[in-house]
Amino acid sequence: MFDGKDVTAVGQILVNSKHDLTTRFRALFTLRNLGGPEAINWISRTFEDESALLKHELAYCLGQMQDERAIPVLETVLKDTSQEPMVRHEAGEALGAIGNLKVLDLLKQYSEDPVIEVAETCQLAVRLLEWQQGGGREEGADGNPYSSVDPAPPAPRKSVPELRVQLLDESLSLFERYRAMFALRNLGTEEAVLALGDGLQCSSALFRHEIGYVLGQIQHEASIPQLQAALEKEDESAMVRHECAEALGSIGKDACLEILQRYREDQERVVKESCVVALDMLEYENSSQFQYADGLLRLQGET
Ligand SMILES: [Fe+2]
Ligand SMILES: [Fe+2]
Repeated sequence: MFDGKDVTAVGQILVNSKHDLTTRFRALFTLRNLGGPEAINWISRTFEDESALLKHELAYCLGQMQDERAIPVLETVLKDTSQEPMVRHEAGEALGAIGNLKVLDLLKQYSEDPVIEVAETCQLAVRLLEWQQGGGREEGADGNPYSSVDPAPPAPRKSVPELRVQLLDESLSLFERYRAMFALRNLGTEEAVLALGDGLQCSSALFRHEIGYVLGQIQHEASIPQLQAALEKEDESAMVRHECAEALGSIGKDACLEILQRYREDQERVVKESCVVALDMLEYENSSQFQYADGLLRLQGET
């Protein structure tokens, strides 16, 4: 069992930039699992860090926790133009994930942000909240087999070719295209995975990064070539390359490992750090370590 002292001890690891990034990531996931106001406090304090990768993960975790006490810090991060676009994006998405209508006006305001990834994220979050407000039901849609809170509900069940058309049609709103993306993800077949991979050629970097994210959730080998190609593309957005690196890490085959080893010294800090963290997760999966979010176990080991 854990108590308040454990939360403090894990929180101190998270905020301390002297620790390895991999250790701090594990501390973050431990806090996310523990939840509560103290955990939120420690996570919030870490937005002063220098790693955009870590900070975007903080915002992601706060959204997934769906605790309204995280709204003020997420609002601050979304508004803070000194934060990297990837971090502000994740804060906007997290505000949508929490699902409280009181952030609707703020999200509408930032739907016009000059940073396109931030603007598009907020447009999506506005559509999500409005959809929920309209009593949105996922009628005839396949359920989410993952435990994630998504930025859009899945589209009603259709054939893969139909969903693929909806996914790739750039004249549709991002929200409709995301709905097709999550419907394809929930199907999870090889055909669906290949259709999703085609989304890595679309024009919105935000959209492409989300494709990387869902391919990481599905963990299907069929997506390795497309993920690898995106990671290897030097002019691809770092936010997309990062997500593809993490996806390769979660697929975890030997071929993925070899690719990640090659990019662990990438020029782009978020890509490099993503490879380091992904390799650590792989090491965990291939070892007998009991749980990845082992911040508490590690503490016990030290005492
Ligand atoms: Fe994201
Ligand atoms: Fe990410």
